[in-house]
Amino acid sequence: MAVRKITEFPEKVLAEVGKAVTKFDKELEDLCADMFETMYDAEGVGLAASQIGLNLRLFVMDCEGVKLIAANPEIISTEGEQSSQEGCLSVGKVPAVVVRPQKARLRAQNEKGEWFEQDGEGYAARAFMHETDHCNGKLFIDQLPKMRRDMVVKRFKKEKNWK
Ligand code: NI
Repeated sequence: MAVRKITEFPEKVLAEVGKAVTKFDKELEDLCADMFETMYDAEGVGLAASQIGLNLRLFVMDCEGVKLIAANPEIISTEGEQSSQEGCLSVGKVPAVVVRPQKARLRAQNEKGEWFEQDGEGYAARAFMHETDHCNGKLFIDQLPKMRRDMVVKRFKKEKNWK
């Protein structure tokens, strides 16, 4: 297992729609182990493959008791609304309030290729949506009105000491 380098905004892979996971083998298991290790090392609750530079529809998460590997994820239903702070390891964890559904049902394949459905609420539902968005080339800042998006990007760049 190894901690991988986290891809940061505005690297291109973060804006690409991921390719489907088609091989469920030892290599995928090892990749997921690295993703968990990288996520825990960065003190995150979710990590998508694009965040370690891989164009793949895959994420791992461990959030409020929901620990899972999701290959080829999709959100199949949502309910209600919540508004709270969200951040992303690829945007330096700069927080911003994002409106999301309160509940979400995730459909995905595990590391063996078996399909499953998982319900999430609150923070876990938020993680399902945030990570599934990554697999579709979307970042949480894309959910924000332009002015607030620009503010998050500006703060992130400042923290990175960009000119
Ligand atoms: Ni993220």
